[in-house]
Amino acid sequence: MSVIRTAVFPVAGLGTRFLPATKAIAKEMLTVVDKPLIQYATEEAVAAGIKTLVFVVGRTKNAIIDHYDKAYELETELRLRNKTELLKIVEEVKPANINCVFIRQSEALGLGHAVLCAEPAVGNEPFAVILPDDLIYNNGGAGCIQQMVDVYNRKQGCVIGTQTVAISESVNYGMVAGPKLEDKLSRVDEIVEKPAPENAPSDQGVVGRYILTPAIFDKLRTTERGAGNEIQLTDAIADLRKDEEIYAYSFEGRRFDCGSKIGYLEANIEIALQHEEMAEGFKKYLKGLKYTD
Ligand code: G1P
Repeated sequence: MSVIRTAVFPVAGLGTRFLPATKAIAKEMLTVVDKPLIQYATEEAVAAGIKTLVFVVGRTKNAIIDHYDKAYELETELRLRNKTELLKIVEEVKPANINCVFIRQSEALGLGHAVLCAEPAVGNEPFAVILPDDLIYNNGGAGCIQQMVDVYNRKQGCVIGTQTVAISESVNYGMVAGPKLEDKLSRVDEIVEKPAPENAPSDQGVVGRYILTPAIFDKLRTTERGAGNEIQLTDAIADLRKDEEIYAYSFEGRRFDCGSKIGYLEANIEIALQHEEMAEGFKKYLKGLKYTD
């Protein structure tokens, strides 16, 4: 039985929705409370037993590479000052048993193309794809990728994370449809990238979590440009569905769309409200807040 050992993080996007914040820094380095978005994603992968993290980066993403590297000066300084707690926080960004691989996607040809760029690091085995823009928080429970790895282990087929979305929002999502197999699990009979509401096959939207078999790479090699004139992962999955059973899994946990300003703000507020160090003070602040309407 194959084990999911590798996760791919497509992080080459320009983050134009967060300009000017993202003029010089990667959008994945924006912080939610006290951690960059990308670290929520890598922690979710590591918690699911994944050992190799493959980052598909663009030219302006060096801060991500630095974040997962050793910070000699900082670590030496913290050690000298006996700041053991802070030192631990810094060292734990990349646990010692985890390997990081960085691959340049030199042209922004879309999510499908980014995943194909990761092939040399993934090899011929199933793997996870995590889009850090989608922060999924399952307070105390198993992370989304862990839940999906569990499904993969039972079904040995591709698993796509999904949630119910407003049909009017279908233009922002891959949309799937198919019969329900179990509580939270359906078969994907149809998958289409960003359809107009009138063409959406259901109200089930794809979120940024996938477990894919390596057969996806062959499909991606021949996938033509689709929605937004980009090579879409969704289109390659639709092609793969002709050969393999694909599953849609409606995960447990709350997803924040941190690719949008409102979703990013919501994530900050909700996670601050759960934060050990901050929750009490923040609740007090919110209670005292005066609204104008
Ligand atoms: C990507 C996928 C889309 C999926 C979405 C989830 O789109 O192409 O199928 O529903 O992520 O966040 P993007 O948001 O990168 O345009």
